[in-house]
Amino acid sequence: MTASGRRPAVALRGVGKRFPGVVAVDGVTLEIEPGEVHVFAGENGAGKSTLMKLIAQVEPPTSGRVELDGEPVVHQGPGAARRLGVSMVHQEFALAPDLSVAENLFIGHEPGRSGWISRAAERRDARELLARVGLDVDPGRRVSLLSTAEQQRVELAKALAVRAKVLILDEPTASLTERETEELFGIVRELTGQGIAVLYISHRLDEIFEIGDRVTVMRDGAVVETAPVDGLDEARLVQLMVGRDVANLYPRTHRAPGEVRLEVDGLSRGEQVRDVSFQVRAGEIVGLAGLVGAGRTELARAVFGAEPPDRGTITVDGRALRIRGPADAIAAGIGYLTESRKEDGLALQLGVDKNITMAKLPMLRFGLIDLKAERDIAERERESLRIRVPRVGRQAQTLSGGNQQKVVLARWLETGADVLFFDEPGRGMDVGAKSEMFQQLDSLAEQGKAVVLISSYLPELLNMCDRILVMRGGRITGEVQRTEFSEERVVALATGAKGNHD
Ligand SMILES: Nc1ncnc2c1ncn2[C@@H]1O[C@H](COP(=O)(O)OP(=O)(O)OP(=O)(O)O)[C@@H](O)[C@H]1O
Ligand SMILES: [Mg+2]
Repeated sequence: MTASGRRPAVALRGVGKRFPGVVAVDGVTLEIEPGEVHVFAGENGAGKSTLMKLIAQVEPPTSGRVELDGEPVVHQGPGAARRLGVSMVHQEFALAPDLSVAENLFIGHEPGRSGWISRAAERRDARELLARVGLDVDPGRRVSLLSTAEQQRVELAKALAVRAKVLILDEPTASLTERETEELFGIVRELTGQGIAVLYISHRLDEIFEIGDRVTVMRDGAVVETAPVDGLDEARLVQLMVGRDVANLYPRTHRAPGEVRLEVDGLSRGEQVRDVSFQVRAGEIVGLAGLVGAGRTELARAVFGAEPPDRGTITVDGRALRIRGPADAIAAGIGYLTESRKEDGLALQLGVDKNITMAKLPMLRFGLIDLKAERDIAERERESLRIRVPRVGRQAQTLSGGNQQKVVLARWLETGADVLFFDEPGRGMDVGAKSEMFQQLDSLAEQGKAVVLISSYLPELLNMCDRILVMRGGRITGEVQRTEFSEERVVALATGAKGNHD
């Protein structure tokens, strides 16, 4: 029985999980109450996602046991867990992109009774479920055509479809706007009101305090502490998470900028990038702010040649470039850390070392890769970014989400590129790792590189940038200098609020 005298929704009894060379989860004992939002926090690689996968039976534990509603679980896979009422929305969504919304909702348990699927019934049920998560899309629509936030709603609806008693959300707000986050919290509160236990992984302190009832902090696979959120403050929570004080979340040293390194003039790409012009000087970190969909990523992709521009010029160090694809951009010294490490960032099957050196291979003569240099580079980055992996030859897919992000970051830190775009670089990183990352961005600027930082989290831009360019509807709608930085001003420009059109 739990403190409230009810049977725990989930009980973990000395649960552990080993992988070759790694103890991912180390003897966790814990009870989760029905109807609570139980937050899991801790450094990248602490074991949060793995622990959730043990509860959702994505993988069997190597020791201890999981109990659901008082009953010990025999491992039979995620399908069986869903039938027992455990649903998990993964850190990287697991929807089938080519199936329709309705098909995704009912994979494995179609509403038709005797083996055949009634499309009409499926659609009707789908509409009902989608309404419960506030999603107004045609159930026949292909999932790949939905936005990230919409896909997440589909995941939530999928959880409801099986009448979940336990809902696991692994960093659900990492790619949501503030409004979408608030809406998600609304859904979460409604679910906990119905007695569903929500297990919620997050690195964001603000949301831990907003949505959490209790928080369990993990480090090195073990529980450091479980406490009611009310009894904690931010500093204490950070201390518990990273095991040390993080003195400066945003280390930045400002200095006078040098020559213009990047000049973009009249750049257009379809509807999403319209007549954009700006410059970035050596030593500058320039922020790109805007609402999701404002065209920031599209701008970066156009400059990088991932979606070559229709019109306009790009000049680096006074040299006009002809960019037909990323290879041209890389050759010209432009780097781009994408916002989605899985889609176009990381080669999951390759080693951490190969992933880091991919954009700039250390070569011997005769076209041979210098394997020793490759390992040395990877080791250096592992050290400085604290990438958590037993050997740098390990496949990237064995790393935790935040550590994968660090690998892609390391790649661009190692290219020697002079002009660097970082698109939501801190996504999924713990507070300590983020501070180290920003330290590195600062030293790139110090080396005279031109850095463009895209972030949806304004405190990052306000603390790290020399100037902020604000985009809306594919255009740059304003520029704010560091001396005039304020959240209100950036938000006003991003939303087009009155009185701020300059
Ligand atoms: N399939 C696997 N094979 C080998 N090691 C793994 C595997 N899955 C996870 N690990 C390791 O287990 C540890 C815990 O990883 P996990 O993904 O649970 O961390 P996390 O707390 O979710 O981190 P993050 O905040 O970065 O998402 C890490 O060291 C990771 O590299
Ligand atoms: Mg994780």
